[in-house]
Amino acid sequence: MDAAASPSIDRKVERVISIRDLHVSFGSNHVLRGFNLDLYRGENVMVLGKSGSGKSVLIKCVVRLQEPDSGHIDVLGQDVLALDQEELDRLRVKIGFLFQSSALYDSMTVQENLEFPLRRHWITTTPEETDALVDEVLTAVGLAHTRKLYPSELSGGMRRRIGLARTLILKPEIVLYDEPTTGLDPITGKEIVELILELQRQYNTSSIIISHDLHVAKLAANRIALLHEGRNYMEGSYHLFRDSEDEVVKRFFVFM
Ligand SMILES: Nc1ncnc2c1ncn2[C@@H]1O[C@H](COP(=O)(O)OP(=O)(O)OP(=O)(O)O)[C@@H](O)[C@H]1O
Ligand SMILES: [Mg+2]
Repeated sequence: MDAAASPSIDRKVERVISIRDLHVSFGSNHVLRGFNLDLYRGENVMVLGKSGSGKSVLIKCVVRLQEPDSGHIDVLGQDVLALDQEELDRLRVKIGFLFQSSALYDSMTVQENLEFPLRRHWITTTPEETDALVDEVLTAVGLAHTRKLYPSELSGGMRRRIGLARTLILKPEIVLYDEPTTGLDPITGKEIVELILELQRQYNTSSIIISHDLHVAKLAANRIALLHEGRNYMEGSYHLFRDSEDEVVKRFFVFM
C-alpha cells in the first residue's frame, strides 16, 4: 500500500509541503525508498514509524539538513532541492524545527536561547521589540518567569516548552516536531500535546509531528502517515489506524 495523499483532504486547501519519491541512503542502508507525503495549510500530520525507520531523516530533508539522493520536495511553492544557500536561509525562517532533543544552549539563559534564532537569521529588532517577542513566546508556552534561568535549572518538560518557544519566535508558517513528547511523563506529554494544539490555533501553523505517542495520535493529528520500509505505507485518520486489520499497522497500535 502506498498513499500519496488522503482522499479526505479538501483539495481547495493550500498545500504547503509536497514530498515526492524521496530516496535517502547511507551506504547500503536505503532508508527512504520513494516516500510521498503532503501537508496542507493548518493541519497537523503525524508520522509514525519504528526506531531507525527514517523519520528524523525525513524531516531533516524538508529543511535540507539532510541531502536526499533523489526525489522532489516543494515547500510553500518552492523547489527546496533547487534552492541556493541564500534562498534556503530565507525559506528556513518560515519553518520551525523542534529537534528530538530540545537542543538548548546550556551556557545561555532562556532569554538568550530565545533571541538566538533572531540573530542567526540576521533579523534586526530593537531591544524593546526583542523583549516583547521573548515575552510573547514565553507566555504562549506558559513560562514567562523563566527568562533569566539557565537550561540546567529547568525540568525536562520545561526545556521542551522553551524549545517550542524558540521555534515560535520567528512566527513560522510550518513547524516540524521531532518527537515532542518522548522522554516525558504521560501528564507532561499531554500538556505538550495541548500546547501544540493551542499554538496551531494561535499561530495557524501547519505541522509534521514525528511521534509514537497515543495522545498525539488521538488529540493532535488531523492525519497519520505510517513510514514503513522507506515508504508511506498507510495514511488516514486515527480511527482508520485504530480499526485497521493490517498486520503492520496493528503492530504499532498494540503499543499505543
Ligand atoms: N548522518 C547519518 N549517517 C549515517 N546514517 C544515518 C545518518 N542519519 C541517520 N542515519 C541512519 O538512518 C536511519 C534512520 O535514522 P533516523 O534518525 O531517521 O531514524 P528515526 O526513525 O528517526 O528513529 P528514532 O525513532 O529512533 O528517532 C538509521 O539507520 C540511522 O542509523
Ligand atoms: Mg528520530
